Amino acid sequence: MKKPSIIHHPSSIISNTPTKVGVFDSGAGGLTVVKSLLKHRLFDEIIYYGDTARVPYGPKDPATITRYALEALEFFKNFEIDLMITACNSVSAHALPELRAKASFPIYGVIEPGVLALKNAGLPNSSRILILGTRATIGSGRYQNEISRLGFSNIEALSPSLFVPLVEEGIFSGELLQSALDHYFADLTPPDAIILGCTHFPLIADAIRDYFPNRPLLIHSGEAIAEHLESSGFTPERAKETELRIFSSDNPEALKEIAKKWL
Ligand code: DGL
Repeated sequence: MKKPSIIHHPSSIISNTPTKVGVFDSGAGGLTVVKSLLKHRLFDEIIYYGDTARVPYGPKDPATITRYALEALEFFKNFEIDLMITACNSVSAHALPELRAKASFPIYGVIEPGVLALKNAGLPNSSRILILGTRATIGSGRYQNEISRLGFSNIEALSPSLFVPLVEEGIFSGELLQSALDHYFADLTPPDAIILGCTHFPLIADAIRDYFPNRPLLIHSGEAIAEHLESSGFTPERAKETELRIFSSDNPEALKEIAKKWL
């Protein structure tokens, strides 16, 4: 395991609640979730682990994704974390039962909070809902099933795979992104809400929203999990610093550079 990078951000915690969280993602994308956790000031310590040696998880099969996630769980066992968040939607879609069965701390995924955020938005059941995620996430049907259980029937699910490498290249606007948006969205009826069901998509949220003339509501996994934790009693009480320690399975310096840009 490579040496960690340590970055400090102002934050706050409450006493008698979990303060040390492990955040896991297939790579850098989960930093979008870390950004929300920092903004909401929920923890005094965040241990981030990105499996940068094996990203992307999205095209891999469920058994492989689950095996990788269980290996990440072993990694976090070294840190005495109070809870773990799987920032990765693909992991949240496939590996939560296995992770929970093997962990001694609570494990949160991002799909359930995202669906709750949609529910809390109070849109009419006739609304058009567009779910964007990796092939693994969309293939699991998790978002589709949970959203249809809320009473929505106008649901479309897409895997705009090209968005992931574009974001990794730091392309958040411009012609290339516009071509990719056209490629996936040109034939769609404008949705009323879009689930950003992939860690990378919040970084191009503005371009995705602006593509549609009605500027649909966007559901962001990071904001959704932070709000979900807050509504479960994680209310900040005293100012403190959040220590963010970043680990990866490959090239931690590159991940540190991305963290400096994204956070
Ligand atoms: N983190 C992944 C997710 O949210 C996206 C990148 C990947 O395919 O690994 O599903």
